[in-house]
Amino acid sequence: MCGIVGYIGPKAVDSVLIVGLEKLEYRGYDSAGIAYFDRNEISIIKEKGRIADLEEQIKKYPVEGHIGIGHTRWATHGEPSKVNAHPHMNRDKTIAVVQNGIIENYLELKTELKSLGYMFISETDTEVLPHMIDRYVKEGFDLEKAFVKTLHRLDGKYAIAMIGEKNPDRVYFAKDGAPLILAEGENLSGKKELLLASDVPAFVPLAKSAYYLNDGEWGYFDSTIHLFDRPGAQINAFMEPVAIKLEDISLGEYEHFMRKEIYEQPEMLERILAERIVNNETIEFSELKFPREYLSKVARFIIQACGTSLNSGMIGKLYLEQVAKKMADADYSSEFRYRNPVAGGDTLVIGISQSGETADTLAGLREAKSKFLKVLSFVNNINSTIARESDGVIHLMAGPEIGVASTKAYTAQLTHMLLFAYHVADISWLLTSEEKRDLIKELKTIPDKMRKILQYETKIKEIAERLKNRNSVLFLGRTWNHATALEGALKLKEISYIHAEGYAAGEFKHGPIALVSAEVPVVVVAPKGEMRTKLISNLQEVKARNGEVFAIVTEGDDELASLADAVLEVPESSEILSPLLTILPLQLLSYHTAILRGCDVDKPRNLAKSVTVE
Ligand code: G6P
Repeated sequence: MCGIVGYIGPKAVDSVLIVGLEKLEYRGYDSAGIAYFDRNEISIIKEKGRIADLEEQIKKYPVEGHIGIGHTRWATHGEPSKVNAHPHMNRDKTIAVVQNGIIENYLELKTELKSLGYMFISETDTEVLPHMIDRYVKEGFDLEKAFVKTLHRLDGKYAIAMIGEKNPDRVYFAKDGAPLILAEGENLSGKKELLLASDVPAFVPLAKSAYYLNDGEWGYFDSTIHLFDRPGAQINAFMEPVAIKLEDISLGEYEHFMRKEIYEQPEMLERILAERIVNNETIEFSELKFPREYLSKVARFIIQACGTSLNSGMIGKLYLEQVAKKMADADYSSEFRYRNPVAGGDTLVIGISQSGETADTLAGLREAKSKFLKVLSFVNNINSTIARESDGVIHLMAGPEIGVASTKAYTAQLTHMLLFAYHVADISWLLTSEEKRDLIKELKTIPDKMRKILQYETKIKEIAERLKNRNSVLFLGRTWNHATALEGALKLKEISYIHAEGYAAGEFKHGPIALVSAEVPVVVVAPKGEMRTKLISNLQEVKARNGEVFAIVTEGDDELASLADAVLEVPESSEILSPLLTILPLQLLSYHTAILRGCDVDKPRNLAKSVTVE
């Protein structure tokens, strides 16, 4: 939800800010803007739409300057428009502010400022910030004090950057609830280069080291970083090396990040297995600091997550039940956080999150902690707020995921949930060496099986042709592949805007079957296994009502192939591992359907990759 950047250094400020904003565009793309010092005066350029639209504007007004801030917006308060675009300014145009997050008490602050004669031009919550800072400056406080006094007035979750004409050599910043990172660039010309951003890709490859701010921290940078804690004591910014490489966040030979990330899955899985499996027999999570005695005694796991991460969590629940023989639930974070969950002290609450910043998942973990429950997070961003607030962390190791529709993070989550369940089973003495060896042996065959599925892309495109003009598609699956059906439907609706719903196939007769007609096709996920015959019955029910059926089947399943209108094949695997394969054709199916419909697959409308507001 929104991305912010800031820069001081020898390079042209507009180019650094634009490159940074482009890398943050996954966080929102409704409007964008920059503010910068041009000979000690603040200039501002903003535009509705994408960063490319802002760039067009910038071309018309050559920018000179080396200090500035920028923003890409996902609209919360006020429609996407130029006037609501950040940065926002005071009336004198001496203070410019960008904000990511939400100022919950903005209406109250706005009323107060209006009573003092301040006028507002936008509908945003952010506009209260430059006016409030202006007010304190006019009351006689210096800019730094005015900034801090304003921060103390705010309720909400935010990351803020500000420039003000009183200190034309500084970029101010503050974090409370939304991510913010400071970074140092290379000191090539002897001049320091300092940056801030909502996420690391914004300053790759410029920055070599970074500092992840904690909540309540604020400060400014000029030729160096000045960092303070909430009460105002100066603290050190301990910089860590930036691990992300440019090629990790570049398209390379691909046209879209989504397709690139789908294709990265086999190699990603190999990387995960190489890291997690030691000597071909032990599953290890070196970063997980829970003592084995504790983990083996956990009686119940509650998984809570959002979107794709919840879909993987639903399969994770099955892994924990079936493999580790533990009680397990999976719930929407947005429900879990408000339903006052009942849980004993031997419960471990798991949050799954690619970004590690999802507001509801974070709130769910905080809710668990408030009940003195331990929390474990599975995150792709190891420096995220969720990771830092959890008692234990498992790193998903998917690498940066840029496409808004999550793909490789999903299979990384499935793999880690599976390995975690086996680990718990192992330390609970539930596994024989043979069972462990068999799992590891089979897991190692999965990357090549994924590669084989990717070779069927032409066939998948043909089915996308048949889906592209439909208004609605149903997805059915059971047990191990119920969540595959949910995830397949989510992918399709997210990026192609075709209405799609996934169902547990057993529920089909209890309502959804009424939707079936010649116009509404059904995708049945039916790899070989216990549930295959049940799904054949569902398929027959659809055919009997003139519905078209596309089935995900195990290679060589001629019986199912003869019943369905078209099939997408996956190589044979044990049922428990099948979700790692069956999702790939569905990811590609949604990708190609969206492309055929002319949709922007990497930046679907209304969505943002990192949902940092409730
Ligand atoms: C957003 C994204 C989804 C993602 C969900 C949870 O809705 O568009 O792709 O699955 O958030 O995100 P998380 O980062 O917590 O996994």
